[in-house]
Amino acid sequence: MLIIPGLLSREEVLHFRARLQTVPWLDGRSTALGMSADVKRNQQADAANATVRTLANTLLARYGETPTLVSAALPQRIFPPCFNRYGIGETYGLHVDGAIMRIPDTSDVMRSDVSMTLALSDTEEYDGGELVIATDFGEQRVRPRAGDAVVYPSSSLHQVTPVTRGERLAAICWIQSLVADTQLRQTLFSLDQSIQSLIDVEGVPREQLDALHHVYHNLIRQFALV
Ligand code: NI
Repeated sequence: MLIIPGLLSREEVLHFRARLQTVPWLDGRSTALGMSADVKRNQQADAANATVRTLANTLLARYGETPTLVSAALPQRIFPPCFNRYGIGETYGLHVDGAIMRIPDTSDVMRSDVSMTLALSDTEEYDGGELVIATDFGEQRVRPRAGDAVVYPSSSLHQVTPVTRGERLAAICWIQSLVADTQLRQTLFSLDQSIQSLIDVEGVPREQLDALHHVYHNLIRQFALV
C-alpha cells in the first residue's frame, strides 16, 4: 500500500466537491456485480453525466502527470475514475475488485492490477469510513486526507467500514499495469525511487546514475507487457 500525499491541491479538492454537488447520484449497487453487490452500500455519481465525465477526465490527465503514481503503477490503461460517497451507515464490505473490467461505452476490456482511492473529504468531516486492506503482513487501515491518494493491489481483499458521522467522498479508479506481477512492480518502484533520491544527493557520479537508469529501463523492457 502506498499513499501519495497532495495528489490534488486544497483548491482542486474544493472545486471537485462543488461540482459534485450539482450532479445526479445513483445507488452504488447499480454498478456492482455478483458478490460485490451484496456488500456494497454507497452512492455513485452518474458516470453518464457530462460534468462527471469532465471531472473524471481531469483526474485521468492529472494521474498521468503524477510521477509517483506512474512509477508505482506503471499504467498502461486507467479505468475512468468513479466518484462515490458514503453517508451515515453506508459501507462497502469485504470484497475483491473484479479482475477484468469493461471500459464504459466501448467493447474494450482491461485487467485491474492496481486500485486507487483519492480522498475528497477531510478526515475531520466523518467518522468511520476507514479503508481496510488485507496484506501479507496483516490489515492496513487508512483514512487519507482530502487530496491524498491510496494505491494498493487490486488483488487484495479490502473494505470500507461503515460511516458513523458525516459523509465520505472519494474518487476511485483501477489501473492496468505494464507489469502485472505485484511483487515485481513493487521492486521496480523501489529501484526507481532509490535512483530518484540519489539524483538529489550531491557528489553522486553521473556514470553511476546512468548505469542504474540503464538497469531500470532494461528491466522494464524485459518485463513490460505492451
Ligand atoms: Ni473495491
